[in-house]
Amino acid sequence: MKVLWKPHKGQQTKALSQPDSVFEIAFGGSRGGGKTSAGIAWLLKGTEDPGFTGLVIRRNHSDLRQWIDEARQIYVHAKLTGKPGVFEFPSGAKIYTGHLKDSDAYTQFQGWNITRLLIEELGQIPQEEYYLKLLSSVRSTCGVAPQVFCTMNPGNVGHQWIKRRWQIGLKEANKSFKDPVSNRKRIYIPATIDDNPSLQELDPDYVNYLDSLPEPLRSMWRMGDWDVFAGAYFAEWNPAYHIKEEKDARKLGFGNEVNHRYIGFDWGYSAPHCAIWIEVTPDNRVFVFDELYGKEKHPMEVGELIYKKNCQHGKNIEMTLGDPSCWIRNPMS
Ligand SMILES: Nc1ncnc2c1ncn2[C@@H]1O[C@H](COP(=O)(O)OP(=O)(O)OP(=O)(O)O)[C@@H](O)[C@H]1O
Ligand SMILES: [Mg+2]
Repeated sequence: MKVLWKPHKGQQTKALSQPDSVFEIAFGGSRGGGKTSAGIAWLLKGTEDPGFTGLVIRRNHSDLRQWIDEARQIYVHAKLTGKPGVFEFPSGAKIYTGHLKDSDAYTQFQGWNITRLLIEELGQIPQEEYYLKLLSSVRSTCGVAPQVFCTMNPGNVGHQWIKRRWQIGLKEANKSFKDPVSNRKRIYIPATIDDNPSLQELDPDYVNYLDSLPEPLRSMWRMGDWDVFAGAYFAEWNPAYHIKEEKDARKLGFGNEVNHRYIGFDWGYSAPHCAIWIEVTPDNRVFVFDELYGKEKHPMEVGELIYKKNCQHGKNIEMTLGDPSCWIRNPMS
């Protein structure tokens, strides 16, 4: 018999051999660790049961198409129909495919009974609440136990909530733990490209590319490190999510006439001074669109620089807020 696919020893095998008692499996880590491939194989388990309903979710159409193309190589006995595609197995079991670009992305599966849910690139989901909405449909109505399998890399918009949910860095990896509220078990299984000999064989230069990345990308994508933002004052800060190109910021309301504009100022002489230009939309989205940063400058000079920048923007500033040290007797001490 021709073997179409078999898991690599180590992390891939571990991810695919979790018992039914573990409800949520997070298979994460560096790029190219074999996560997508493992997810395709995981979703097959149980498809001999006629009542089985599987669902895979990816971010958008084109990602989903790529996943379907890869899955077709392995789901050779299934018939693929519909848009988005549905795999139908000889037993009657079905694997549905979906993406998160529609407006009702997180509620479109409400009321479904999903036996196994695969979420590819979980980090693309910005909030845990959305994930929980998807999870609410995972319940079994057949002989196969319900289970969820998520793949993810660090550094995406969902970085912080994922790290918290799976207690990455706090609890031991590769060991399941029970969530005290839901009483269900979760496990985080990390893999790096070193766990995927296939990719190293197919494209030996890929690992060099990962090694050559600038920080913090290298730590995240080569090492699968979730601690890259540790120690940051704002732990939720994530450049992938919080830094926008101007055109994308405009889509979110930046630049509208009705917005309020302010300057925030923190004085410093030997320690740095900083002024930031802020715009707030009526629904309280805050955009920081310029800054002045420096040290050891006379207050008059800093004042002039702020004035100059302000003239460049030509925007009406409603209020400027300065920290109390602006008004101390000797501001250059
Ligand atoms: N067990 C396996 N047998 C054969 N090929 C495999 C196996 N596991 C992974 N591969 C191949 O290795 C390559 C990378 O694997 P995969 O896409 O699953 O990695 P990934 O962890 O999802 O990567 P990324 O982080 O970029 O999403 C693919 O070409 C895939 O087909
Ligand atoms: Mg992948």
